[in-house]
Amino acid sequence: MSRMIRAETIRKVREVVAHARAAGRLISFVPTMGALHAGHAALLGAARADGAFTVVSIFVNPTQFGPSEDFASYPRDAEGDLRLCKQHGVDLVFLPSATEMYPHAPLTSVSVDRLTRHLCGPHRPGHFAGVATVVLKLLNIVTPDVACFGQKDAQQLAVVRRMVADLDLPVRIAGVPTVREADGLAMSSRNRRLSAVDREQALCLVRALREAERMARDGVREVADIEARMREVVRAAGPSTIDYVSVVDCDELQPIDRIHGPALAALAVRIGATRLIDNLVIGPPPDPPAATGTRPTRTDREPS
Ligand code: PAF
Repeated sequence: MSRMIRAETIRKVREVVAHARAAGRLISFVPTMGALHAGHAALLGAARADGAFTVVSIFVNPTQFGPSEDFASYPRDAEGDLRLCKQHGVDLVFLPSATEMYPHAPLTSVSVDRLTRHLCGPHRPGHFAGVATVVLKLLNIVTPDVACFGQKDAQQLAVVRRMVADLDLPVRIAGVPTVREADGLAMSSRNRRLSAVDREQALCLVRALREAERMARDGVREVADIEARMREVVRAAGPSTIDYVSVVDCDELQPIDRIHGPALAALAVRIGATRLIDNLVIGPPPDPPAATGTRPTRTDREPS
């Protein structure tokens, strides 16, 4: 197994990637904020799939946190992260400092409209502009052929896909299915901060989503009914603050009144000091295209 290279500067990343590309390797990329877990391991598995030269960035990006958010307390575990990257055959880890990424206060930012108007957008002003801008910077630094993002952050994935399409970036964005604990809790770096009691209560997110899925399967079409039931499930689990519970269309993440085809059920709930999000595609699969179409199965479904 070849040695894992560690880079702290943009210059070194560019040199190493140019070398790998000159040797005929495809470049794959997994951007992260560290505190890596099994969900990230799935991203690394997808990134390495075709024997690509795999680059991981670990950078807790300050510009995507609001002033009252958890930037300072966001979990950090550089040693554990490097160990996991090594175990998963990562070729290059980029660990920039904030001054390497932002040597001066940036005057340029990317904002993706419409897709950010609902779900987390109104609750985290500036968050998606921070994400889109840092992802664009990272894509320009790493110049990957493919970049992998988790479906757990469905809105982020949709925003990145749209930015890549709108700006003609020469990269393929791969969406990787959410990895869950045995009891259904979606893997998240923020789960590390849950107490045992909070951890139990946090299951209300996946319970609410599965209830939405069951209702849609049983033929309920009114979104208001599904959202009301999801709220009940969350409230029944204990005291929490619901940022939102929403069923939106899978393409542009806009609110819908009735379910006609696949829809995205999503929610954000604060349990204690920890804000958790999760989502699931619910509803009937889309009609197959006339004549030659194959009908997608539930496992084919991606949020966007
Ligand atoms: O999903 C994350 O960890 C972050 O939002 C990302 C994509 C690495 C940008 O900072």
